[in-house]
Amino acid sequence: MQSRFDPDQVTADDAIVWHEGKLFLLDQRALPKQVTFVELKSATETAGAIAEMVVRGAPAIGVTAAYGMVLAARAAYQSDAGQWRSRIGAEVDALRRSRPTAVNLFWAIERMERLMETLPDEGDPTEPLLAEAKTIHEEDIAANRTMGDLGAELIASGSKVITHCNAGALATGGYGTALGVIRSAFAAGKLTRVYADETRPWLQGARLTAWELLQDGVPVTLLADGAAASLMRQGEVDWVVVGSDRIAANGDVANKIGTYHLAVAAKHHQLKVMVVAPTSTIDMSLPSGAEIPIEVRDGAEIESCGKQRVAAAGVKVWNPVFDVTPAGMVDAIVTEKGVVLAPNEEKMRKLMIN
Ligand code: MRU
Repeated sequence: MQSRFDPDQVTADDAIVWHEGKLFLLDQRALPKQVTFVELKSATETAGAIAEMVVRGAPAIGVTAAYGMVLAARAAYQSDAGQWRSRIGAEVDALRRSRPTAVNLFWAIERMERLMETLPDEGDPTEPLLAEAKTIHEEDIAANRTMGDLGAELIASGSKVITHCNAGALATGGYGTALGVIRSAFAAGKLTRVYADETRPWLQGARLTAWELLQDGVPVTLLADGAAASLMRQGEVDWVVVGSDRIAANGDVANKIGTYHLAVAAKHHQLKVMVVAPTSTIDMSLPSGAEIPIEVRDGAEIESCGKQRVAAAGVKVWNPVFDVTPAGMVDAIVTEKGVVLAPNEEKMRKLMIN
């Protein structure tokens, strides 16, 4: 375990670590410059870490929230053993408010709440809840490995792919969704080139995707977001492969801002679009992408490059951090339960019933 905290040995699979009763997150804001962990002592601190992007990526947010629920229940039990259940409301609310778009957050909280309902009033809830959080974590890794294989099967030998944001081990319990497919396809010798959009303004592509893939020995070429259409025109892309933060019942896909842009360019050039996401990302309660809450963050993120202010003083800023790609522009949604080609509501319902 010690070695996991040695900066030279940390990998993207160490992003969320429960160690000796404590929750540690690899601080993704500091990567790749610095490999450092943040220790979280409470659910409120965990909510703060999600809101401030210490951890990000839909499945990773869900896994972190599950561990946050363990911290909430443990603290409540320690302060009033008989009343722990009625004492955790404020901390659970803080977790719920941490970020609005990734449905995995709410999915994980609700799964933990369902288990809580079955636990006796007397008795420490920490161990059963921790076991559930670890199961959520392990299931996510297993789902990613399955999706890696299923997605790679769709990709022909000699293909070139482009990805957006970071949908890798850092963004999940481990291995990654879109990057899981890229890893599996690369291991199968099918990819001749991987391109990564830098992904303004948080630069998840430049900082995180490039770091992960290079660590894994996958050669990756970085480009500015606006360069993707030109790359496609030059015949350098066969597949757009991305993750998702929430998929609506009709197959509309919310993902990092710029994904829609990439899909529009891909369709113009008759290229394929693959969305890779576990079923914990699918929200059948929302009929379409129009109902997905899109997070709008502080304009200061756009006014600056890193810590350097670049925008003219006084300019107005619009900073939505996700967009919706209509199902009609998606060729395949790859989940751990199977692949949905040309998604629509009927096919999504069939997938979720299985
Ligand atoms: O704002 P972020 O970094 O949390 O956004 C992450 C993304 O948009 C990812 O593509 C998505 O969560 C899928 S991660 C497997």
